[in-house]
Amino acid sequence: MPAVRAENLYKVFGKRADKAVELLSDGRHRDEIADLNVTAAVIDVSFEVQPGEIFVVMGLSGSGKSTLIRMLNGLLTPTAGRVEVEGTDITALSKPGLRKLRSEKISMVFQHFALFPHRTVKENAAYGLEVRGVPKEAREAKAVEALEMVGLAGWEDKVPGQLSGGMQQRVGLARALAADTDIILMDEAFSALDPLIRRDMQTQLLELQETLGKTIIFITHDLNEAMRLGDRICVLRDGRTAQIGTAEEILNDPANDYVAQFVEDVDRTRVLTASSVMEAPIPVVAPDNGPRAALRTMRENQTSYAFVQRRDRRLVGGIKESAVGKAVRENAKELTGLIDTEIERVAPDTAVADLFAQAAESAFPLAVVDGDERLVGVIPRGTLLAALATPDENGDGEAETAESAGEQGDGAGKDGEGAAVEEPAAAEEGGSK
Ligand SMILES: Nc1ncnc2c1ncn2[C@@H]1O[C@H](COP(=O)(O)OP(=O)(O)OP(=O)(O)O)[C@@H](O)[C@H]1O
Ligand SMILES: [Mg+2]
Repeated sequence: MPAVRAENLYKVFGKRADKAVELLSDGRHRDEIADLNVTAAVIDVSFEVQPGEIFVVMGLSGSGKSTLIRMLNGLLTPTAGRVEVEGTDITALSKPGLRKLRSEKISMVFQHFALFPHRTVKENAAYGLEVRGVPKEAREAKAVEALEMVGLAGWEDKVPGQLSGGMQQRVGLARALAADTDIILMDEAFSALDPLIRRDMQTQLLELQETLGKTIIFITHDLNEAMRLGDRICVLRDGRTAQIGTAEEILNDPANDYVAQFVEDVDRTRVLTASSVMEAPIPVVAPDNGPRAALRTMRENQTSYAFVQRRDRRLVGGIKESAVGKAVRENAKELTGLIDTEIERVAPDTAVADLFAQAAESAFPLAVVDGDERLVGVIPRGTLLAALATPDENGDGEAETAESAGEQGDGAGKDGEGAAVEEPAAAEEGGSK
């Protein structure tokens, strides 16, 4: 069951809202119904957020983000459509029912912290539980725990005015964590913070998410923040959904010109990860293969290297055609001793930006290994460079670069040494021919 489900959701402000919904559902743009004197804030938005997911809603000012998020916890009633929270249709709930929902299931963190200035940090953090009627001692214990999670241990008895902006926002986050709801809504929660502090907060949120596994719906107008935090991103434009997808899908396959323009300036190397640029691990040999068989495998695949992995797919290391060829000439029977076990390994979720240094040092393509040391993919240096190219209009620009880079690698492989992995210029040359 999804944690949150929005189904054909509309919010139109103004007297003739229902008429507006009728016209909007026929596909009219909100500017076309100006004569109705309404504001169409959210138009026909549908999505599902899975438990444990960080779902980001992104869009320019006025695109309907805050209106949308306020319908998810019942602060605003939809003009049309449905919101389900953990399977319950919340549009059918009474006022007390909605209050219960907000105190037990969904908490919210606001842009301007919304702290009580005369209450201590601890009391602020305990507020959600206070509303729920939790006794003082129990709620303050929870608050202290939450404050510790966000790095504010020792600040419990200060008042908000004694804290920096970043710290105040941590109190807001601690309040949501202390309430211990499964779902947290965050409306531009980090937007008022300085860039470096903002980045710290993003990191902390991702770390907390790792351990707590909350469902988070995060609103931002900042694309880089969206890309960094979101498992999936919903791009809103003028109240409608322009695209919903992972950061990589939105970058590599924008649904329309609007989204394409939006993502133009994104630093792709920060968004794309090893797993999105890696290729199938080829060629691979088993550690008990003889040198002759290993050499044949490399020749068949026209490479100057191969990866060595056990039957359970755990990576042992890499071998080079030159060394294996020599062993064959000397009639050696075993690969052991020829295997470089120190080859560079990277995790699937490593940002591409963090791969370059390792790739530069490595005589092998980077080996992408999972938590169990299993080889899940490889990244030749040419592929890494090709990943930097922005997909162009007809979509063949990237493919061309990647292909040529690959060709160059294979071709060089035939000559003996792995030029593809040892020559940083390989992809460039490949791309220009
Ligand atoms: N209570 C209201 N009554 C009338 N119009 C409203 C109301 N709340 C929001 N709107 C309008 O709905 C549209 C969407 O507003 P909303 O606040 O959801 O946008 P947003 O994407 O959150 O923008 P921002 O990035 O500036 O916070 C805007 O045109 C806004 O003026
Ligand atoms: Mg807003």
